[in-house]
Amino acid sequence: MMKPDDFEFVSRLIKSKSGLVLSQDKTYLLESRLMPIARKRGLKDLTELIGALRGGDRNLVEEVVDAMTTNESFFFRDTKPFDQFRHVVLPHMIKARAPKKHLRIWCAAASSGQEPYSLAMILDEFKSQLAGWRIDIVGTDISREILTKARAGLYSQFEVQRGLPIGLLVKYFQKKEDQWQISADIRGKVQYKEFNLLEDFRPLGQFDVVYCRNVLIYFDQPTKSDVLSRISALMPDDGFLFLGGAETVLGISDKFKPLARQRGIYQLNRPGAPDVDLTALEKVQAGAAAGAAAGGAAGAAAPGGLAFPKPKHMQTGAGTTTGTAARPAAGTTGTTGTATTRPGTSSFGTQSTQRPLGGTTSSTTRPTTGTGTTGSAFSRPSGSTGTGSTTRPGTTGTTGSSGTAGSTYRRPLGTGTGTGAGAGGTTQRPGTGSSNTSGSNGTTRPSTTFDRSRFGKPDDKK
Ligand SMILES: C[S@@+](CC[C@H](N)C(=O)[O-])C[C@H]1O[C@@H](n2cnc3c(N)ncnc32)[C@H](O)[C@@H]1O
Repeated sequence: MMKPDDFEFVSRLIKSKSGLVLSQDKTYLLESRLMPIARKRGLKDLTELIGALRGGDRNLVEEVVDAMTTNESFFFRDTKPFDQFRHVVLPHMIKARAPKKHLRIWCAAASSGQEPYSLAMILDEFKSQLAGWRIDIVGTDISREILTKARAGLYSQFEVQRGLPIGLLVKYFQKKEDQWQISADIRGKVQYKEFNLLEDFRPLGQFDVVYCRNVLIYFDQPTKSDVLSRISALMPDDGFLFLGGAETVLGISDKFKPLARQRGIYQLNRPGAPDVDLTALEKVQAGAAAGAAAGGAAGAAAPGGLAFPKPKHMQTGAGTTTGTAARPAAGTTGTTGTATTRPGTSSFGTQSTQRPLGGTTSSTTRPTTGTGTTGSAFSRPSGSTGTGSTTRPGTTGTTGSSGTAGSTYRRPLGTGTGTGAGAGGTTQRPGTGSSNTSGSNGTTRPSTTFDRSRFGKPDDKK
């Protein structure tokens, strides 16, 4: 058990090095993440480890900070930031940067790479319009270890089943033993760099678009304000900032303002910030909402999937549309009441699956990948006709309209309960398997992540 003054010392050290705030009730978290380091170094216990930290072992400090980071990420996370990029930011930039043909994007907490690679895949779809352009996607993170994974672009079965449409998996990934590797072409579009958000940003240069998602939540208010202020200084008047679903600039920084009627996307609070056309985006969002309400109507996205129309290669069959396409239940026990239920344990093998995501009823054969075991982003149970409330179970989920999660949601450091009412259609992630509250679009999505604070670092960190 860690002594209070040891906790005080380590939490101060971590905050000063990274901005990460650890409140007193996170003692268990600190212990569970530091014990493996102590063991690896042959130290008897945490007292010895903290002694070494007090002695100023710099490598150890770095290792401890890295261990305390939460690297949760997935492809096309939250959908909206990627729809907004595709339908608002990119069309604007394609016009506005036409004279320079140069676009710079910064993923400021890139983690294991899913965010920058999601952007790179979208940009790849626009390659004919962007021929001759130089596009820089810079992914930075404080964690050296997670950047090694990002550079390798290797993902587990579980990771490619979270948010990544199967068409993009087929198009951009190759199977490597029991993992999937994103293509060298897409990897080559992203530059990674170890970088601490507490450091001076100026050496990074200017960025037209900044994704700083799901990292500010770990910082205190002055640090958030400071980071936002310094990000704004790197951006031109017509730049765009993306924050995570639980993050905002409101009450924290007046350098940015929310884009009208949208969440998570911000413009500079400057006279030069342009009016942008939201028509295409709102059409797609309305279609996605209607599709979710109809239980997978034509052309609509599943929550957590892509709301933009699928490119041709992702469309299956002859385009027969139906809102209630039958899907095999893939061996799950999901039952539906008024909610559309996604099974948590689909096999990602060779079964033939009908996918209402694209509104088609034709059969799609999935790539053979052996035995997938976790909640699939691609599966829905058969014949479900939801009423707008969508429930995804976790890894072992039996589901009803309250959505029992089969795995435990890892709460971010320093945040409270895992559930909460979101506005504007934010997908909700519940806490630890409790019944879910839903946002205004009625979408509820139990997480399929596990609680690292209880089980140590996930595989990608070991
Ligand atoms: C939860 S992940 C977010 C990943 C991605 N942006 C997303 O939304 O899916 C947070 C990342 O922030 C990184 N991080 C934490 N503190 C940081 C700091 N001071 N500077 C840079 N990165 C930091 C962590 O290492 C972690 O990979």
